[in-house]
Amino acid sequence: MIVTIDGPAGAGKSTVSRALAARLGFDFLDTGAMYRAITLAAVRNQVAWSRPDELAALARSVRIEVAERRVWLDGDDVSSAIRANEITNLVHYSANNPSVRERMVELQRAAAQGRNMVTEGRDQGTVVFPDAECKIYLTASPSERARRRYAELAARGETVAFAEILAQQQLRDERDAARTCGPLAAARDSIEVLTDGLSPDQVVDRLEALARRSLNLPTTTSTSRSLPQSA
Ligand code: DC
Repeated sequence: MIVTIDGPAGAGKSTVSRALAARLGFDFLDTGAMYRAITLAAVRNQVAWSRPDELAALARSVRIEVAERRVWLDGDDVSSAIRANEITNLVHYSANNPSVRERMVELQRAAAQGRNMVTEGRDQGTVVFPDAECKIYLTASPSERARRRYAELAARGETVAFAEILAQQQLRDERDAARTCGPLAAARDSIEVLTDGLSPDQVVDRLEALARRSLNLPTTTSTSRSLPQSA
């Protein structure tokens, strides 16, 4: 069984997708981390951004492992390094490279083989797992998303002005939506969940109810207690 969670940067996907996977007893796949790891590999190997063929070759030669909260690049734990603002601003080179995407899609499908999985990204419900049993499109308003990103960077000790975060986010949204291969889009059969004003727990409650319904899993007592009737 596959649950896909797609949506723009800062919608809160990672936190709630992870928590949803734990509640369902499913594995979790953070596909953004994979694009970030390729980007970090390119920085470390000094691949020129003007050479998309070299980036594609690199994506085929490095070993990326993603497990729960950790990411390894050729055995090196890069979980923190891939979240740096520098990587965030460069990751579009990997995400917009069709050959890199082709490789990532292969790896993502292989990772899900024979497993129950919650998978999070931009193209999970549209391209990677078009037959997923439950597809969610998670989003929030631009200001709410930028506010979350600001807090996340501050927690890492990185200070970036709010206005700059908002501008970077808009650029990323445009790039995510505009690419020809695997653009950010809600699958036609996805359910949209807007997270403004909701705590992560409230979002997870809502997603869990949606997922259990779509997957025909029994509902839990705590979920039915905390779930708004409209979810
Ligand atoms: O979710 P994130 O911010 O960690 O994702 C990093 C980048 O990777 C983001 O700019 C969009 C891209 N991405 C993608 O193109 N396809 C995915 N399935 C996941 C992420």
